[in-house]
Amino acid sequence: MEKFTTKKLKKLFTSFFLEKQHKQIASASLVPDNDGSVLFTTAGMHPLVPYLLGKSHPEGKRLVDFQKCIRTSDIDEVGDKSHLTFFEMLGSWSLGDYFKNEILEYSFEFLTHKKWLNLPIYKLAVSCFEGDKNSPKDTFSYNKWKTLGIKEENIFYLPAEHNWWALGEVGPCGPDSEMFYITNKAPCGKECSPACSCGRYLEIWNDVFMGYVRHKENGPIVELESKNVDTGMGIERTVCVLNGYDSVYEIDSLKPAITMLEKLSGKKYDENEKVTRAMRIIADHLRATTMILGDEIPTLPSNVGRGYVLRRLIRRSVNFARRLNIDAFALEQVVLWYIDFFKEDYTSLQNNHSMIIEEFKKEIEQFNKTLSYGLKEFEKVKLQSKNMIIDGIAAFRLYDTFGFPMEITKELAHEAGYTVDEKKYHEKFAEHQEKSRASNTQVFKGGLAGTDEIYAKYHTATHLLLACLRKHFGNDINQRGSNITAERLRFDFNINRKLEKHELQLLEDEINKIINQKVDVIMRETSLKEAKESGAVGIFEDKYGDKVFVYSIGDFSKEICGGPHASNTSELGHFKIIKEESCSAGVRRIKAILQ
Ligand code: SER
Repeated sequence: MEKFTTKKLKKLFTSFFLEKQHKQIASASLVPDNDGSVLFTTAGMHPLVPYLLGKSHPEGKRLVDFQKCIRTSDIDEVGDKSHLTFFEMLGSWSLGDYFKNEILEYSFEFLTHKKWLNLPIYKLAVSCFEGDKNSPKDTFSYNKWKTLGIKEENIFYLPAEHNWWALGEVGPCGPDSEMFYITNKAPCGKECSPACSCGRYLEIWNDVFMGYVRHKENGPIVELESKNVDTGMGIERTVCVLNGYDSVYEIDSLKPAITMLEKLSGKKYDENEKVTRAMRIIADHLRATTMILGDEIPTLPSNVGRGYVLRRLIRRSVNFARRLNIDAFALEQVVLWYIDFFKEDYTSLQNNHSMIIEEFKKEIEQFNKTLSYGLKEFEKVKLQSKNMIIDGIAAFRLYDTFGFPMEITKELAHEAGYTVDEKKYHEKFAEHQEKSRASNTQVFKGGLAGTDEIYAKYHTATHLLLACLRKHFGNDINQRGSNITAERLRFDFNINRKLEKHELQLLEDEINKIINQKVDVIMRETSLKEAKESGAVGIFEDKYGDKVFVYSIGDFSKEICGGPHASNTSELGHFKIIKEESCSAGVRRIKAILQ
């Protein structure tokens, strides 16, 4: 059989749906736009949720794309044959246009026609929803597959556990019909079906009949007005299956990274299980690292949210590289290869090329510093431990003081034949989080909590943005909302019109000019009355006590605020507006990042 590559599969899938009058849309950012419940985009349909719920899509009712996704829930499984943190997903949608009949015909044609995947019909199995209180038994799909030519022995009814798809606790959902490739493995028993994990049936595609929605957690599942179709094909898994590979690491978007790691370490990938696992973890984590840093909304390593996931990915890679005797900085080569491989499909990788490398190296430097202290500390902890169990409080201290993610402590413990008291660790961790939350609220009365350096920079950038908005659009412009994450700032302000492109450019240029002038950020404690008299801008006045902090940035900005702030504008890097949109009547919203 001819070898399939991820590039070829992408081309075939999108061409097929283009022929069926679908429009191709670009992959959305890994940072979800309208969903605060998860850190990353986790499925192809994720960015399309508003449209599945009825909003009209500018490109029409038939869409196709490939989407970059990150799932971190399985991070501990990475290293086996199939789990990945970053993956790509092909998807097609009917937004209230065609439904089951057409998509099942399309699916069959794409899988079996010689112009497309050309799979023999006898190698295909499918599953259909067996029905429950939310939705009836899907006899339509069963009969349709039969008419199309799938043998009844290869059509299975399965329960919601297998054939009901939902993005999360709330949102659009529905029964699905999944397609499987039948391998040469014999059935594992009489009951063998696509529901078991014996390896006979490997999933390649999923057609979800997204005609339902759950509005709140544990709430009822209700029918949607528009009946949508959402299909998703995991690119890595499908290419692996189609080629008959033993693991996903054999495919074109991962294998070259493994080969580079072999060269760098002088070890063979299949030398022993430990080496195989380590190389897979590094290859996976560096791929995810490249995509997160190089996203159109880049995330930088930090101790919160997405930044923390990124930090763990980089630090784990370094840790496993160390075991293979690979110098951490040499991993840059692998990152460069990933940029090169993916840059045509995800152009932000090109634009962010030097930033990706700089930030990657910076994080390694920082980790190296803490690592040498931490390893010494770990040896001490080991000596003090009883019954070969690493104390949970000591493990927490390793995290808190030495920057050791728990999993690194676990790995080190495991290697030395120790276990870690994880329960105690998690208790301590939760206690710590509660304490820091409480103290943040205390310190940052302005409501902009966050001790991280990156937060401080965004905070200062927000002041500059308000100052420049007032300068150009009038002193009656005020803050109507502000939200800072480690990845971006979001600022809402009152103005009764859209800002034009050239006006956004003007704001960006002016802010970058101030950044480049290396202006000190000065904090002064004073009375509210005096602060106001000095012309300081303040928004949440009722929240301030009698004493307030006034932050000044040269002559440009003077604001009452709880901080924290950068100490000099030069720390901010480069300011870039990524979005300007309406927020509510008379209020616009700007999202901006520091690069
Ligand atoms: N949403 C479904 C999935 O992720 C199909 O796109 O599998």
